Amino acid sequence: MSDIQSHVHDVLVIGAGGAGLRAAIEASAAGVSVGLVCKSLLGKAHTVMAEGGMAAAIGNVDDRDNWQVHFADTMRGGGYLNNWVKAEIHAKEAPDRVKELEAWGAVFDRTQDGRILQRNFGGHKYPRLAHVGDRTGLEMIRTLQDHGIHRGIDVYMEHTVTALLKDAGRVVGAFGYDRERGRFRLFKAPAIVLATGGIGRAYKISSNSWEYTGDGHSLAYHAGADLMDMEFIQFHPTGMVWPPSVRGILVTEGVRGEGGRLLNADGKRFMFDDIPDLYKNQVAKDAEEGWRYVTGDKAANRPPELLTRDHVARCIVREVKAGRGSPHGGVFLDIAWIKEKLPNAPEHIRKKLPSMYHQFKELAGVDITTTPMEVGPTTHYVMGGVKVDGLTQMSSVPGLFAAGEVGAGLHGANRLGGNSLSDLLVFGKRAGEHAALWAKEHKHGSIDEAQVDAAAKAALAPLDRPGSENPYGIQRDLQETMQAHVGIVRSEPEMGRALDDIAALRGRAASVGIDGNREYNPGWHTCLDLPNLLTVSEAIARSALDRRESRGGHFREDYPDKSPEFAGHNTIVSKGQDGSMQLRREPLKPMRDDLKKIIEEQQK
Ligand code: FUM
Repeated sequence: MSDIQSHVHDVLVIGAGGAGLRAAIEASAAGVSVGLVCKSLLGKAHTVMAEGGMAAAIGNVDDRDNWQVHFADTMRGGGYLNNWVKAEIHAKEAPDRVKELEAWGAVFDRTQDGRILQRNFGGHKYPRLAHVGDRTGLEMIRTLQDHGIHRGIDVYMEHTVTALLKDAGRVVGAFGYDRERGRFRLFKAPAIVLATGGIGRAYKISSNSWEYTGDGHSLAYHAGADLMDMEFIQFHPTGMVWPPSVRGILVTEGVRGEGGRLLNADGKRFMFDDIPDLYKNQVAKDAEEGWRYVTGDKAANRPPELLTRDHVARCIVREVKAGRGSPHGGVFLDIAWIKEKLPNAPEHIRKKLPSMYHQFKELAGVDITTTPMEVGPTTHYVMGGVKVDGLTQMSSVPGLFAAGEVGAGLHGANRLGGNSLSDLLVFGKRAGEHAALWAKEHKHGSIDEAQVDAAAKAALAPLDRPGSENPYGIQRDLQETMQAHVGIVRSEPEMGRALDDIAALRGRAASVGIDGNREYNPGWHTCLDLPNLLTVSEAIARSALDRRESRGGHFREDYPDKSPEFAGHNTIVSKGQDGSMQLRREPLKPMRDDLKKIIEEQQK
């Protein structure tokens, strides 16, 4: 312990994306001392990659919108496995959180009369996404950072937490290291908020940044918390597919929200080939009601390209498998066509989609104002995560909270685009508020030296084994396995194979080693990421194997339909006494009647 620097806080927030920053702001506003750990530099959070907007039923573009419709859309999108307590809170509180962000300085795009502009996104009945061109996440982080920086929060940049410490069943601290020099850190805090984001780096093709190695999921699991619904992974339909060096980078749904059309190699809008009845009914109802539109093209308001992401991703896979894909294994996304409707189309595209314009110009040599993009599905988001209380965000481990992507429940089997940024604000705030309350009511626990020593020993082990198994090779093999066997289309034999592969990789990871020392050693960091990646991969594969149906982001070719047998429970994994992963099914909490009624109304 002697060479470990200690830091004492009331609330420790791990992760400085939208949820972490919002939690830290709220906790510090409650008057407690807050430490904020970022794996990267402050402001470099993966949140900036949520480009298209934040969903909130403000009703600025279509005044038929309200929290009830947003709630029903979120539940339908999630295959009704969502924690409805969270879905209700989210739909009700998102508008205030967006307006608060505006008051803190976020510069949203505007309607003609100066209000926050909202755009269409998949699965949302009305234009609902408050946005800043296609840089909404970036604006959100900038605003939260500017606001938070003045609150006296202690920020630990480029730090990674490798273990949570417990005393008498509750969480009391965290062990980690600074990534530059490799110095160990001990954080003492009675309340800890996990806001570490997702797991996308377990897959080969992913829109996620390097930080997304399932750290928070794994920390919580090993601390004894339940993980929920890990089978549900979102494959965003549109990532770049070419050139290979940029494969997986997000092409915002905002392109389709602005009217972008998906075409196969024959130039056909293939999304018309598979349109659910509910959606057809809605289109007919819209026409009767004379609905409004944003881009100037009525047909663009509810195009089938804006069906939910799981559906669109599978349609793209279908086209590619049938040999109707683009030259590099995707399909075409065409926004240039809007010149038929808008005289100033190139200017409009550059204004509304500036990042996409530059991304394709710089990385692929494609001018999207004249030429279709090549796109295909990319691993984007995990709906599963730490099981938390819907009101407080506390996990099953006292004092341990989770918010944002690492916290489960809001999105059920599939998240609607734009519900992520609003999730970060709504539940980041709640996690910060309740963590602060908890910290006020609970003293610091005692730190067990044996737990700290064990964490330090585990962190140093790879440095004692130079020249043995290479960590990058293990991560690459894991990504290949997850992509091939637990990807968009799954089956029992494939997932069985993935579990065998994961067990073998775990064996190899136990002898992973790296040359050099603790300073500036990215290979060492990768060694320490591996256990997290393996834990979340096993949780995903086990949960996916158990769910013998298709729902939301989980599609099984051996069980292609929804099943009533699986409609009523969440999948929970937890660490057993013997250290093995245990799985159980937990029945959904019966929904309140008034909420049921809202859903029935919206289904008409
Ligand atoms: O497509 C996008 O801009 C992604 C947004 C989201 O995942 O919410």
